[in-house]
Amino acid sequence: MQSPFELEISRRGLLISSAATVAVTGAAPSLAAAQSAGTDMALTSKLSFTVNGESRSIDIDNRTTLLDALREHLHLTGTKKGCDHGQCGACTVMVDGRRINSCLSLALMHEGDEITTIEGLGEPGNLHPMQAAFVKHDGFQCGYCTPGQICSSIAVIEEIKANIPSHVTGDLNAAAQMTPTEIRERMSGNICRCGAYSNIVDAIVEVAGGKA
Ligand code: FES
Ligand code: FES
Repeated sequence: MQSPFELEISRRGLLISSAATVAVTGAAPSLAAAQSAGTDMALTSKLSFTVNGESRSIDIDNRTTLLDALREHLHLTGTKKGCDHGQCGACTVMVDGRRINSCLSLALMHEGDEITTIEGLGEPGNLHPMQAAFVKHDGFQCGYCTPGQICSSIAVIEEIKANIPSHVTGDLNAAAQMTPTEIRERMSGNICRCGAYSNIVDAIVEVAGGKA
């Protein structure tokens, strides 16, 4: 006769083997279907787009994010990977003039798009006005968030202009809306662990021509 201990062991063994059987039998058809479907499914694709004014074509794994395509395939490492989850803004680039978190976007979604990264804005000796303003106002410390901050801030100025009510036109009125409060709110998705926020806002306000 089995002891209570042996009975408990056998019962546990039965439960484990039953669960394993259910898992195997339940998973097998979908796995087989996926494998069979996979024979016709491409795992990589060709992506053609424009990056910083240059036509580029790359073969990439379909699951590649735009951020990884830029950094790993095109070696444009100015765009930074912070959280890789859409929470820090370090990976901000512009797509057709609008800012996005490139870590949240599959590269293949950007076929034919025009991408602008920090490398496309300026270069030493010929900085973009926003880059120059960041230097002038000390808008960075370690610099890790800075490429994303700069791409974001350039797009923010265009966003503010685009959101001006239709009956309000002209640069003066646009400038009036470039307030530090408005800019802080719109830049809130770009985190700076060094806390250079006030200097970043000063730089953006200057470029925007708003009130500091
Ligand atoms: S790396 Fe994309 S939002 Fe943080
Ligand atoms: S300058 Fe260091 S994180 Fe912003």
